[in-house]
Amino acid sequence: MNTPSNKPHIAILAGDGIGPEVMQQALRVLEKVAPDVSYTHGLIGGAAYAKYQQHFPNATKELIDQADAVLFGSVGGPIQAADSPQWKNCEVNSILALRNHLNLSVNVRPAKFYSALADISPLKNHLFDACDEILIYRELLGDIYFGEKRTFEVNGQMVAEDTATYTDDQIKAIAQQAFTCAANRSGKLTSVDKANVLDTSKLWRQVFDEMAKDFPQVELSHMLVDNCTMQLILNPAQFDVIATANLFGDILSDAASALPGSLGMMPSASFNDAGFGLYEPSGGSAPDIAGKDIANPMAQLLSLAMLLRHSLNRHPEALAIEQAIEQVLNSGHRTADIGHNASDTTGTVAFTDQVIQQL
Ligand code: IPM
Ligand code: MG
Repeated sequence: MNTPSNKPHIAILAGDGIGPEVMQQALRVLEKVAPDVSYTHGLIGGAAYAKYQQHFPNATKELIDQADAVLFGSVGGPIQAADSPQWKNCEVNSILALRNHLNLSVNVRPAKFYSALADISPLKNHLFDACDEILIYRELLGDIYFGEKRTFEVNGQMVAEDTATYTDDQIKAIAQQAFTCAANRSGKLTSVDKANVLDTSKLWRQVFDEMAKDFPQVELSHMLVDNCTMQLILNPAQFDVIATANLFGDILSDAASALPGSLGMMPSASFNDAGFGLYEPSGGSAPDIAGKDIANPMAQLLSLAMLLRHSLNRHPEALAIEQAIEQVLNSGHRTADIGHNASDTTGTVAFTDQVIQQL
């Protein structure tokens, strides 16, 4: 936004775990397809704590406020260290605070089905073959994630409380994006909620029904989240665009990511109402596999492609990355998460080498 030159400038927040190593690969790809795009690294998560004793320091806030877009890696430490100062509340203090700081209310997660990977999908072939891509629109700033939380004691009992809240404006913002997207695709939109139990879901449904009147070309259906989880496994091809609340979207997007083969392939984009975007893999920091050159770089590379397309208007470059990845899969290269056996898998760097060669 406020770059001194006209060159697009992006903030790179690699974070923790596998974040830095997959980010390094994304930057190699960026330098190949769009060498004019400049970038600056910032610290976030446990990596920021190590220097600033803060998970989301002011220096990082200043950096992102100057950038045209943010490419994010992942944050969080090993489970066994979850109570240490470096890792305690790391996700809440960094990625959730960042979403809040940038007012990123709309999150989009594509689960793309690559025909070359039919054999590693948990789906039977006929179910897999019927699928192309499922897009999940997840509301990102409301719900139980951002409502009031407290832990207290009553009569010697510990009680913990998380409050789920939605305003109709919050729901309208995500509905508007999901309807617009569905109108430009198949025209099918599935809104997922728990309206048989939750007030937030009843309001959600009302807002979606109301907005459906403005989108006569979109066929809106409602599905309860428990049924949706089952339907994703039994018949995923019935879905094109799904819209859902923050917590359901977190859970359903992980489930949907496994259908094409692995969470390691799923990118995501988050937007505020001015269209500013942050792009990040849908998965976490995976500290157990960090530093071993085995992480799948696809989610990070595809997040970069989404950034180029949506924030920098670089459609050909975005498409080039997506097609190069597909070609690499077609020629048989597999990272460990999508490989048949450990002996013939390709490492993080070597997989990216192949992608760069295709570009
Ligand atoms: C995601 C992640 C985050 C979330 C965590 C790290 C807080 O699981 O982006 O899906 O729950 O939103
Ligand atoms: Mg998640």
